[in-house]
Amino acid sequence: MEVIIVAREEDVAKIAADRVQQQIHQKRDSVLGLATGGTPLRLYDELESRVQKKSISFAAVTTFNLDEYVGLPPDHRQSYAYYMDKHLFSRIDIDREKTFLPSCPDRKYVTRTCEDFEQALRASGGIELQILGIGTNGHIGFNEPTSSLRSSTRVKTLTKQTVRDNSRFFRSGEEQPSLGITMGIGTILKSKRALLIATGNGKATALAQAIEGPLSAMCPASALQLHPNATFVIDIDAASRLSQRAYYLWVMASKDRLERSAEG
Ligand code: PGA
Repeated sequence: MEVIIVAREEDVAKIAADRVQQQIHQKRDSVLGLATGGTPLRLYDELESRVQKKSISFAAVTTFNLDEYVGLPPDHRQSYAYYMDKHLFSRIDIDREKTFLPSCPDRKYVTRTCEDFEQALRASGGIELQILGIGTNGHIGFNEPTSSLRSSTRVKTLTKQTVRDNSRFFRSGEEQPSLGITMGIGTILKSKRALLIATGNGKATALAQAIEGPLSAMCPASALQLHPNATFVIDIDAASRLSQRAYYLWVMASKDRLERSAEG
């Protein structure tokens, strides 16, 4: 696994945007996996600014989001469909017909929604670059601790910790869903590249377990140890509990030296 540690949150967003840009430059009709939450907001700002500068275009790109709350229609301001529209899709040149979320306003149709989502993923040819955040409990998407490491898209009951962590996005008194549909860990592992971004002390323990801990369903992000091409881009605070921090920085410096000598 590649571990990139940077000084500031802005650097996390820039490096992640560079990876998205490289992917789209390699293949303009790339299939991207996207995430919601607080962490990707700067990345989405950065992507918008690159679209405005015409350094990148999403015109031919297809996207699949990791997860969505069950019971919320796409126009509900707490839905992830609404979030994606507000923070990314309305600000870039993407074709909305090519954006997929596992939306399920009526919980009667959860099974069908999960099947259709997996089917749409297969039909697209599969995700080429999957962006991920990480929960304070180590979740990826809504794959909470004890999720099956080979799971596909399905309904999950959110942990109290996730409900609490996400309560900051809800107004007081507003009903917060406790069920989500999420790509499975098996689904995420099928992506060609995975890019996990994280910032702040609050993520330090989860990251140490994901990167250096045992492979365990107790920390779903540790499943990325099985991914053939996983990169973690994290800031210094989020890296604070990594025992091999000096090694990751040494690897980064060696890569820089190699690249500079190749250019010279
Ligand atoms: P956050 O959420 O970016 O809001 O911290 C990450 C996650 O729960 O996956």
